[in-house]
Amino acid sequence: MGSRFLVTTPIPDPGLPLLRQAGDVTVLPEPPDYEALAALCASGDFDVVLTQLRDVIDAPLLARARIRGVSNFAVGYNNIDVDAATAGGIMVGNTPGVLTDATADIALLLILGTARRVVEADRLVREGRFHGWEPELMLGHDVSGRVLGLAGFGRIARAVARRALGFGMEVVFSPRPPGDRPVGEGELGEFAGRVRQVPWEELVERSDFLSLHVPLTDQTRHLVDAAILKRMKADAILINTARGPVVDEAALVQALANGEIAGAGLDVFEDEPRLAPGLADLPNTVLLPHVGSATVPVRSEMARLSALNAIAIAEGRMPAHAVNPEAWA
Ligand code: GLV
Repeated sequence: MGSRFLVTTPIPDPGLPLLRQAGDVTVLPEPPDYEALAALCASGDFDVVLTQLRDVIDAPLLARARIRGVSNFAVGYNNIDVDAATAGGIMVGNTPGVLTDATADIALLLILGTARRVVEADRLVREGRFHGWEPELMLGHDVSGRVLGLAGFGRIARAVARRALGFGMEVVFSPRPPGDRPVGEGELGEFAGRVRQVPWEELVERSDFLSLHVPLTDQTRHLVDAAILKRMKADAILINTARGPVVDEAALVQALANGEIAGAGLDVFEDEPRLAPGLADLPNTVLLPHVGSATVPVRSEMARLSALNAIAIAEGRMPAHAVNPEAWA
């Protein structure tokens, strides 16, 4: 019998053709709700489930599941209880590397877009309120010469640093907030002498732009809460392209409304697709619908990697991008 794949949401080419070459493919027409997905995983009808960030693969679902693996169409995998998967011998795959630059581009877009008030300015033009050049129309902030603080210093943060240095920003970072881990000069590679590590508290207090690049874990949930927002500069801007729950979004709305910080550029939200009450009414925000990796080539590569991971898992081979190789130890 060939491999049997469940794909919870249609994915771009070449994902489905690759899977179809390797076995039987069931594609759900729309994202399943939790109960429906749990029942499908428990049915014994599928070897591997190809999931999206919206699919919650938690411990109870995994305990009932009769599958060999889960291939996530994303680099992040906070939607999956990896420990529970490992305990059940269920392999998890993800799609690292291919979306680094695209996501860093969105971080820069949010930095520039908030600094230069692009949403407000666009609205002004469309609403017929542009009456010609004015010395004090839509004044924003510079980015060159200002401090970019990176929370996290993995692939995406480094790609943001590379871009920000090109814009003449001063780049500081804190690799694993709220804790610390000394990053040696040797580990800095191309960034040696060009970026500086500082403790998390100092990062928060010094940043003109504080950009989040940490995975969502128990340690990083609400990393940016009311107390942290109070420590930020009054003219600082918060950028989040990581995961919504890293920020206490209700506290962020308060901080923005009270002028405790100057703005926020967000590609992710605490309870997607819902927004914290009041967030959408604030003019000093740029809000995007979780599009960090949303380019045609990147989504196609993600489809390819997630399909190849799924095929390997179904055939009992270690996938190229295994989150928990120990699951098969
Ligand atoms: C997107 O958010 C991803 O983790 O790939």
